Amino acid sequence: MPLNKNLIDKFINITSMAAVASYKYVGKKDKKLADKAATDEMRKNINILDIKGEVVIGEGELDDAPMLFIGEKLGTGIGPEIDIAVDPLEGTNFAANNLPGALSVIAIAPKGNLFKAPETYMNKLAVGKDVPGDAVDLDFTVEKNIKNLSEVKNKKISDLTACILDRPRHKKIIEELKKLKVNLKLISDGDISGALLVTDKKYNVDIFLGIGGGPEGVLAASALDAFECKFQGRFLFKTSNDIMRAKKMGINDINKKYDLKEIVKDDSIFCATGITNGDLVKGIEYKNNIFISETLITHKAGKLTKIIRRENILKT
Ligand code: FBP
Repeated sequence: MPLNKNLIDKFINITSMAAVASYKYVGKKDKKLADKAATDEMRKNINILDIKGEVVIGEGELDDAPMLFIGEKLGTGIGPEIDIAVDPLEGTNFAANNLPGALSVIAIAPKGNLFKAPETYMNKLAVGKDVPGDAVDLDFTVEKNIKNLSEVKNKKISDLTACILDRPRHKKIIEELKKLKVNLKLISDGDISGALLVTDKKYNVDIFLGIGGGPEGVLAASALDAFECKFQGRFLFKTSNDIMRAKKMGINDINKKYDLKEIVKDDSIFCATGITNGDLVKGIEYKNNIFISETLITHKAGKLTKIIRRENILKT
């Protein structure tokens, strides 16, 4: 069952207000405070919505409160049953250091349709809708993916660009890409945005790959679905405790490679509001006591992918 369209506006408001709340702490060198401000504002505003919501992607479990935790019930309890994935502040370093790319992000789906995932790493791969389904795969070598991509996109390998988090764990992949002469877009943080750069030619990114946060993977998948892009992810569990938690959440095959449709099964709405300027959206602009926000919104069933600007007033 598709989500009611009137939820779009409500959830644009949720990430816009969280972004405004966090904006106050931009450049204050305090990741936790910026994150807490966004989280508190998000929780407060979702709790007055007439929905029966449950957080399926959040920051840790109950003991990590006051962050929005997995399993937390949100909303008035009257209304549609909804799965909620949150990242109130994506790019805590960006906000703390006043760098481009901080976002406030949410995705919602009808109950049971968004992957319930523990907070762990995920190996990810995303390509645009112009790439046929079987051309790239998480299980292919980097070389095979790049060669196939070059063929199906009819582009020279040296004209392809790969986006990846700049981390020591990616040393080997980055070396391989360099050897193949692929252009690199190395990002220091913010891999929701990184993954979404495959959605439009204007970003000039042909493939997003590498290991980042699992929650960020699920959130990106929701938007990528509306853009008809391809996404695959495989969770990575380090400790036996991680594996136990995953099994409790219903993940029996811990090595499973998930395709987008298994992560976001049905309709979904995704909102990402800029806190600082970034590739996808502009950051909060403060003018005459009004906070102007830009939100990337997608709604799968409504075939909607759009950037919305709005004026917000922060009530204290
Ligand atoms: P935070 O907003 O929680 O700081 O996450 C930023 C981020 O860059 C994510 O976009 C990414 O998925 C994750 O961190 C990567 O984790 P790590 O920094 O441990 O490599």
